[in-house]
Amino acid sequence: MEFLSNKRIILGVTGGIACYKSVELMRHLQRAGAEVYVAMTRNAGWFVGPVTFEAISGHPVFLDMFESKREEPMRHISWAENADAAVIAPATGNIIGKLANGIADDALSTLMLAVTAPKLICPAMNTHMYENRAVQRNLEQLEADGYIIVEPSAGELACKAVGPGRLADPERIYSQILDVFLPNDYFGKKVVVTAGPTREPMDPVRFISNPSSGKMGYALARAAAGRGAHVILVSGPTEIVLPDRIHHVRVQTAQEMAEAVFAEADSADMIIKVAAVSDYRPVEVARHKVKKGKERITLELEKTTDILAALAERKRAGQILVGFAAETRDLEENATLKLAAKKLDMIAANLIGGADSGFRAETNHIRLFYKDGKSEQLPLMDKEAAAHVLLDRIITLETA
Ligand SMILES: Cc1cc2nc3c(=O)[nH]c(=O)nc-3n(C[C@H](O)[C@H](O)[C@H](O)COP(=O)(O)O)c2cc1C
Repeated sequence: MEFLSNKRIILGVTGGIACYKSVELMRHLQRAGAEVYVAMTRNAGWFVGPVTFEAISGHPVFLDMFESKREEPMRHISWAENADAAVIAPATGNIIGKLANGIADDALSTLMLAVTAPKLICPAMNTHMYENRAVQRNLEQLEADGYIIVEPSAGELACKAVGPGRLADPERIYSQILDVFLPNDYFGKKVVVTAGPTREPMDPVRFISNPSSGKMGYALARAAAGRGAHVILVSGPTEIVLPDRIHHVRVQTAQEMAEAVFAEADSADMIIKVAAVSDYRPVEVARHKVKKGKERITLELEKTTDILAALAERKRAGQILVGFAAETRDLEENATLKLAAKKLDMIAANLIGGADSGFRAETNHIRLFYKDGKSEQLPLMDKEAAAHVLLDRIITLETA
C-alpha cells in the first residue's frame, strides 16, 4: 500500500554530518509513493552534493533564491503552495534559530516561511549545541508555532560526544511524516497490543521459544499510535525500535506477559493479541546449565496461563478483543474454534510456513473471521499496510 501516493513532500537539508541520512529518508518517502522535492542550504552542499539529491528525487534541487538560469522565478512560493508536508532533516542549530525568528535569508528558510502544510523539524547536532539554551528556546518556539519536532536520539555522535543530538532514525522520521496523513480515529482509545515470542527457560542458558519476529504486532502498535491511540505494547524479546510515544513493556515468559497484560486490560478499550505465546513451559527450571551426559533426557512441560481465555473471562461490555491465529493447516476450522472459545470479536488468521506470510516475513496473507460468522480474505500485503486495514475493521466493531 502506498501511504503517500500523490503526496508532495519538501525535504529540507542543512549543513550537518547527518546529511547522508536524508538520502535514506527520501528513499523511504518515495517507496511510500511520495514525490520528494529537495531544498538545501549552501552549507549542506559541503556534505552531500545537490547532484545526488537531484538524481534520486528526479527534480531540480532548490539551492539558490537568485540563480541566473532558474526555471521558475518564485519557486519558494510555488513549491510551498503545492506541498503536503515539509520536513527538515537534518536541521542545524542555525536553521532552527532562523525559523524560530522568521528569518528568510536563503532558499530553504524563505520557502519554509511560505509553507502552510504540516512542517517537521529533525534536529541533529553536537550534544552541547543541542542542549544550548538558545537552541532549546528556539525549538520550544517552533513547537509553539505548530512545527512537529522529531526528537534526536542519544548515543555517540560523529564528534565523539555522547548524549542527545543524533538525527532520529530515518525510519522514525518517516513514521512521523506518515502520522501527519493518518486519520485520528483512535484518539482517546487505550489499545493494548501484545507482540513477539515468549521464552520459557529450562536452565539459565536455554529456553523454549518460536521464531516470531514481532513485526506484525509492532506494526499494529505504531499504526494505532499514529491514529491517535494511547498504546501499551507488551512484547517478548525482539530487536525492533519503537517511537517514544508508545509505552513499551518488555517481558520474557508467558507468565510475565500475562501479568503485564492483566495489569492494563481492565482499562483498555481494545486488546489486540498478536504475540506468539508459548502454550507450555518446562515444569522445572534447572538452577545451573544442564550438562551433556545421558543419550536421552525428558523435559516435562506444563501449560502456561491462557491469556486470551482469561481476558475473555474478565472482558467488560464494549471492550474489543482481537486475536491472531498462526496455523499450519485447517485455517478456517482452527480460527473459528478459537474465535468462539475465546469470545473474540475478530480473529486474524494466517497460514504460516510460506515465505510470504507468517513469522519472519515482511508480508502477511490474512483472513479475518468475525463473531457474526462473516469472514474476509485480505490480499497479500506488507505488515504495515495490513495493520492499517485491521485497524479500519476494528474501529467499526465498536459500533457494531
Ligand atoms: C564537519 C562539520 C560538521 C557539522 N555538523 C553540524 C551538525 O551536525 N549540526 C549543526 O547544527 N551544525 C553542524 N555544523 C555547523 C554548521 O554547518 C554551521 O552552523 C552552518 O552555518 C550551518 O549552515 P546551514 O544551517 O545554512 O546549513 C558542522 C560543521 C562542520 C564543519
